[in-house]
Amino acid sequence: MTDTPSAAPVLNALGQAVQPALSRIPSGIGALADYARQARHHIEAHAWAHIESGCDQAQALAHNRQALDRIRLLPEPLPDLSQAHTHLQLLGQAFDWPVLLAPVAYHRLAHPEGEIASVRAAMAMRTGMVVSTLSSYTLEEIAQAAAAASQELGRKAPLWFQLYSQPDRQHTLSLVRRAEAAGYQALVWTVDANIKRSGYPLPPGVEAVNLRGMPQPQQTGDLMDDHILFGTPLATGAPRWSDLEWLRTHTHLPLIVKGILSPRAARQAAALGADAIVVSNHGGRVLDAAVSPIDVLADVRQAVGPQLPLLLDSGIRQGTDVLKALALGANAVLIGRPQLHSLAVAGTLGTAHMLYLLRSELELAMAQTGCAQLRQIGADLLWQPR
Ligand code: FNR
Repeated sequence: MTDTPSAAPVLNALGQAVQPALSRIPSGIGALADYARQARHHIEAHAWAHIESGCDQAQALAHNRQALDRIRLLPEPLPDLSQAHTHLQLLGQAFDWPVLLAPVAYHRLAHPEGEIASVRAAMAMRTGMVVSTLSSYTLEEIAQAAAAASQELGRKAPLWFQLYSQPDRQHTLSLVRRAEAAGYQALVWTVDANIKRSGYPLPPGVEAVNLRGMPQPQQTGDLMDDHILFGTPLATGAPRWSDLEWLRTHTHLPLIVKGILSPRAARQAAALGADAIVVSNHGGRVLDAAVSPIDVLADVRQAVGPQLPLLLDSGIRQGTDVLKALALGANAVLIGRPQLHSLAVAGTLGTAHMLYLLRSELELAMAQTGCAQLRQIGADLLWQPR
């Protein structure tokens, strides 16, 4: 008798077999950083590299953390916390706390239940979620799972749809109409990643299901091609400001522009009808020398005035980061990679727990700095060296 060779195990970035998600929270997980460490065991090596990477030399990725870490806070003792809460209104929608799950492609890279598991966690923890155009379950399936979870748990939170413009405007429009029909409450139009390198081949079973039947422009080819980027459909067909004007006339949903860093672009987005802006460098994934959002937030706030809602992402990992962003002018923040880490470790339970940890840290940080409500969080919390 000969031994039949068993299938080779799928390996994680540590060279060990990928561990399936756990059904309980492992001991020793008390912060988002712990989820990042643990997740390495639960994600296939190439997917892990794709999720964790920054572009090029990963300088923007590193700088996002450094810029947040540089900021110090001034504690304020003995606050009156008898009426303390973290609620806010954003675009006429009620949020329990100022953190949303950022649009992140292909949650199935982290867990077979993908966005379905994530949205259940978001609803359970009354946390807004932005579903990516590149989700690995359809936008309709995710909206249905959100509604079912809300009904089952008696808890809900806003659900927004992130839109990537498609080469054919009719395809873009069909995504908009599908999001409207499925009950999404806002559109987040991402503008900073239309032109970027992308070499990650998706594993079997993971695909951009929302985009079936919608051709994508080819990425750059080889040495002997006549064109590198300029002159290719990727560049010639890339979205422009006129697409924002067009989009504004084609939906009544609130329109949020994601991926702005310059005060000039922020002013322009507002002038063309954006209802809010996400100040973001895409988690350091698109331009390696890009400034960190936290470094330009105050300038963007000044450029657009006090009324326009501003959100910020890229590097948010702890409660004090949320406080720092709000002190510099954001109304809310989003978190990207941590949702995949917690999802890989323990599915819905993991992401719900991760959100619980972040919210606990935020409330603690607010109490320590004398803030009973979000509107009390201002620049006076920030310590400046002389
Ligand atoms: C992203 N991001 C992103 N943004 C977007 O608008 N649409 C998308 O489909 C994706 N996909 C995506 C995949 C992965 C693996 C990552 C890490 C990020 C960017 C995301 O919304 C957000 O801007 C950053 O992730 C924020 O940075 P942190 O929190 O990951 O540091």
